[in-house]
Amino acid sequence: MNPGETKKAGPITDFLVKDHGRLEGLLQSAMAQAGAVDQNTYDQFRAGLLRHIGMEEKILLPAAQRLRGGAPLSIAAKLRLDHGAIASLLMPPPAASVIATIRAVLKVHNTIEEGPGGLYETCDELAVSESTELLAKLQAAPELAVLPCSDSPVVMPAVQRALERAGYGFIEGTI
Ligand SMILES: [Fe+2]
Ligand SMILES: [Fe+2]
Repeated sequence: MNPGETKKAGPITDFLVKDHGRLEGLLQSAMAQAGAVDQNTYDQFRAGLLRHIGMEEKILLPAAQRLRGGAPLSIAAKLRLDHGAIASLLMPPPAASVIATIRAVLKVHNTIEEGPGGLYETCDELAVSESTELLAKLQAAPELAVLPCSDSPVVMPAVQRALERAGYGFIEGTI
């Protein structure tokens, strides 16, 4: 490849990076009105993000492990802990600090997945022979029904624990 030439993203990278962008757009529009959250759009964001995590946990990470002869990717454990933290953050009502923390975690997490040598590039490299099949599986991943947000007193301690396990802290923020 010549200097300055950018490598064309593989089909798995392309599909999932676009999904990151779509989800970011949904979160953005849920927060479009200052000081208020559009719960309907926020629920679409929650459902979409849980589906996205499901694709990675149930399809991509197992495929990568299989293609590596049974050895999990070195970043697999970290990504799974991040997914646990992200899923827990989708449970409470979307207070400013919850949204700020989701954004901060996704920024780190998506960079690990999208970056050079990250989950997506690795999967595109490993799955050359079966990328069409893998992409079809990702596209066919089911929509998920999500529970309404809960302000039960057990929720925030669970979020705190999941964040700590993944190496993050809670962020105070304003909408
Ligand atoms: Fe992920
Ligand atoms: Fe992702």
